[in-house]
Amino acid sequence: MKVINDIKPMQEISEFLRRSGLKIGLVPTMGFLHEGHVGLMINAKDDCDIVIASIFVNPTQFSPNEDFNQYPRDFLRDFYICKNAGVDYIFYPDATAMYGDDYKTFVNVTDISNVCEGVYRPTHFQGVTTVVLKLLNITKPHAAYFGQKDAQQSIILTKMIADLNIDVEMKIVETIREENGLAKSSRNTFLSDEDKESASILFKTLNLGKTKILENDFDDKQGLIKKLKSNIETNSPKAVLQYIAITDNKLMKDIDDIKNYKGEILISLASFFGKTRLIDNILFKK
Ligand code: PAF
Repeated sequence: MKVINDIKPMQEISEFLRRSGLKIGLVPTMGFLHEGHVGLMINAKDDCDIVIASIFVNPTQFSPNEDFNQYPRDFLRDFYICKNAGVDYIFYPDATAMYGDDYKTFVNVTDISNVCEGVYRPTHFQGVTTVVLKLLNITKPHAAYFGQKDAQQSIILTKMIADLNIDVEMKIVETIREENGLAKSSRNTFLSDEDKESASILFKTLNLGKTKILENDFDDKQGLIKKLKSNIETNSPKAVLQYIAITDNKLMKDIDDIKNYKGEILISLASFFGKTRLIDNILFKK
């Protein structure tokens, strides 16, 4: 496994690999890897000849009041996780290599970036789409792997790839969870054991929502969301919920008439536990 820090050598290696007829899979990450990332790498390994994992804590997707400086980092640990997962190249640039001094260009997927997460993190998705497009241009993969845990991110990136005719296959891989249902996340490292137990209410509540919808056991959308909120608040007083949304899985449009809706339904939510902000979702067909 090789570590590449600069853009030009990474582009040259990728170009060479492509010309040699090898299929490249990219797993973009911000490091502090966990089983969720390993799941992406294993999927990439199964489908592709060469796996590139990028490790870059992208400053443009954090707003000034967010946890960019506190975001956990441990390159040595990540290195061995990548090696064990069969990664061939780690692309590990610094912010100067990625953005230089006078960076000016951003990609924005309109509307979808402003709902749910976008309400609380207004510049977040513009940072994500911009860095992912840069990573695609640098590593030139045939396929790129993202986790379903970041459902809105996956929806937005899928739309960017379609709208800008980017020649890459988008692969969305199922969320990996702790035994109690808590979605694996680099931010879980900030949770105490007690918080981790308490935060398992999020996935339990998403499942409750799914069951209620599939069994038609609710009056209307507002009533259902109220029920789900109170399920979290009564079972886990430490949770400070930001939103629960019931939307489609293409444009994240609110589904108002859930009872008559046919197709994929996404229930997503965000909640603080202390200073740690967690997101999760459940996707199912009706
Ligand atoms: O999901 C993440 O870890 C990041 O948003 C990504 C896709 C690596 C872009 O920085």
